Amino acid sequence: MLKVIIVVGARPNFMKAAPLVEAMKRRKQEFAPLLVHTGQHYDQMMSDVFLKDLDLPRPDVSLEVGSDSPVAQTAAVMQKFEPIVANEEPDWVVVVGDVNSTLAGALTAVELGVKVAHVEAGLRSRDRSMPEEINRLLTDQIADLLFTPSEDANENLLAEGIPRQRILLVGNVMIDSLNKYLEKAQSSTIRTILGLGDSEYAVVTLHRPSNVDNRETLSGIIGALGEIANRIPVVFPVHPRTKKTIAEFGLTEKVAAIPNLKIIEPLGYLDFLALYSNARLVLTDSGGIQEETTVLGIPCLTLRENTERPITVTAGTNVIVGTSPDKITKAAITCLESPLKITPRQIPFWDGHTADRILDALVAAGSA
Ligand code: UD1
Repeated sequence: MLKVIIVVGARPNFMKAAPLVEAMKRRKQEFAPLLVHTGQHYDQMMSDVFLKDLDLPRPDVSLEVGSDSPVAQTAAVMQKFEPIVANEEPDWVVVVGDVNSTLAGALTAVELGVKVAHVEAGLRSRDRSMPEEINRLLTDQIADLLFTPSEDANENLLAEGIPRQRILLVGNVMIDSLNKYLEKAQSSTIRTILGLGDSEYAVVTLHRPSNVDNRETLSGIIGALGEIANRIPVVFPVHPRTKKTIAEFGLTEKVAAIPNLKIIEPLGYLDFLALYSNARLVLTDSGGIQEETTVLGIPCLTLRENTERPITVTAGTNVIVGTSPDKITKAAITCLESPLKITPRQIPFWDGHTADRILDALVAAGSA
């Protein structure tokens, strides 16, 4: 029996942890899971709704660190997580993704001599101004087992000198959740609630500090969204960070006045899945959405200069357009004018069985 602590903290963690928790509960002869929520995200619509939508149990432990500077937040998770790890003495701590809670969880476990498994290892944007890139690099350096979603991630890790025997290509665990909930999500009424009916629409998400913490960049992107909204309704569920900076930059009224741009609160997992899986076009600076649109065959424009998920570009669903308003508008128009021919892409091991491959590997690696 392996005792495993699974760490979650921020919104993009929940859809990666849920399949692991579900598989461990199903394989209860082999696993005793403990779910630890750091509290990096704490709003109902950034956290609780995801636990509910993804059938995650109430966390066994809530560290309730809340928002702070990245340094204070990472340090708070470490301080509060340390006694949990020390008391529980797990065989493994499993961390997912690339948020501050990922690195903090991994570093705490390593300091206490507990083995760490990193799910979604090896992704690299090669942009060290992104906090996530630092979290990815450091977590991968200290993890004992690195579970990668795609071959490019294996190559990145080998090039950084990570021993081959620590690396295992298991596929994309987030797609386990996507496959499981896609059908259920279709009964969401979100499109009716938003008055979209059966018409075509675009969906946008924005929250990267490089896009939303700079007035000029944010204002430029919003201008581009206004142009696009002249052609197709644009739905924009606004992340709390983005809501805050829109207000700080005095842009709230300007944004609200753009015709056809529907500003809404962040959505839960199922409503958001229902929304983007039926969209004509998605514009985003998220990492996970680039992957989800690839699997569903939805055209995606990534409003960044780079991606740590190049497989979504080679698959042909994702275009890295950057943040220049002109380029965003042109790319969107090109996409809207071209006949919709994108078919869902099949990427090796993005098949809904990644969680079980991870569990098999943990069993094979054994206890402490
Ligand atoms: C974090 C992750 C990012 C991930 C994103 C998804 C890091 C470095 N960043 O970014 O990789 O893509 O989550 O959402 O870990 N806030 C609320 N309510 C909440 C959470 C946050 O209002 O429940 C506000 C606070 O003002 C906070 C700000 O959002 O200061 C930013 O939150 P934070 O967790 O620091 O980073 P994100 O931008 O959400």
